[in-house]
Amino acid sequence: MEGINRRREAARSVLPSSWGPVIEEAIATAPVNIALAKYWGKRDDELHLPVTGSFSVALDLHTITIVRQALEIDEVTVNSTPLSSDSPFYTRLVEFLDLFRPTPSFAFSIVTTNNVPTAAGLASSASGFAALTLALNTFFGWNLDPKKLSLLARLGSGSACRSVYSGFVTWQKGSSPDGRDSYAIPFDDWWPELSLAILTLSEQEKPISSREAMRLSAKTSPVYLLWPAQVSNDTRAIITAIHERNFPAFGRAVERNALMMHASMLTATPAVCYWLEETITAMNTVWKARKEGVEVYFTMDAGPNVKLLFLKQDTRKVLTYFPKAHVVGLLPPS
Ligand code: DP6
Repeated sequence: MEGINRRREAARSVLPSSWGPVIEEAIATAPVNIALAKYWGKRDDELHLPVTGSFSVALDLHTITIVRQALEIDEVTVNSTPLSSDSPFYTRLVEFLDLFRPTPSFAFSIVTTNNVPTAAGLASSASGFAALTLALNTFFGWNLDPKKLSLLARLGSGSACRSVYSGFVTWQKGSSPDGRDSYAIPFDDWWPELSLAILTLSEQEKPISSREAMRLSAKTSPVYLLWPAQVSNDTRAIITAIHERNFPAFGRAVERNALMMHASMLTATPAVCYWLEETITAMNTVWKARKEGVEVYFTMDAGPNVKLLFLKQDTRKVLTYFPKAHVVGLLPPS
């Protein structure tokens, strides 16, 4: 079956048999999430079904999305700028909206704002697709439970399924070929002393999308063969460390997981390297700080920027090593 039809079928399996707008405009917000054990590699490219589970934490940064009906064609505005209909993000959004048109000619107006400091250099596609899914749910009065909303958000972008919740979140990979059991679930513990800071090293466009880098790593890297077992071990270690409030064990597992993901990119054909010289300097500074007794660890996503993890009590010490880091609040479970 063609990709769009499989995606449509996956969406229809959780939607009512027919729907239409029940209000004029719907608004929803969803938090940015950072993976502590990463989603990297798909077993199904169309349905965004992951090779492994993943584990994230929500940040106190949000996307706010408003959905209305448009007259003729889809209109998308991001951070007050209308997107041109030939931009890649517009196309991605329209493909997602195709899953939800009550009639083939129905057009949407989407206004989305990220309250993420531009300097933070954070990707907003996860919070963006989650907020859009939540707004569509209100707009059409679907009344879907969070599990179904997570499943729908996943069809926009894999990591979006985790942005349906705050706090720590597990994305269970599931095993069903139609993805019905691949959605996020909230984690039952919280760690109020945990803190995160972002070190923005470049705001430039990525040389290659994370989607493509993920595909190349999974298809060509010999290191990727080790990845599934690594993610299970790291996730287990992270979860145990959270329950035991063992910060060094937590940090070690989070950092190792990010490095292993980058190792799979560096060993892909062609190799993918998102790091800048400043990224390597930052990693070395983290390791130096630890040698000097400051408990700070890092994680990185598909980009050059570094996210620092530490306990709130160590904020001042961490900032002496990284004066330009931007401390961001974590969003506890609701
Ligand atoms: C490195 O969710 O953006 O941030 O499913 O293709 O849209 P698609 O990928 P996406 O990938 C996120 C990759 C990551 C790790 C993570 O968030 O788990």
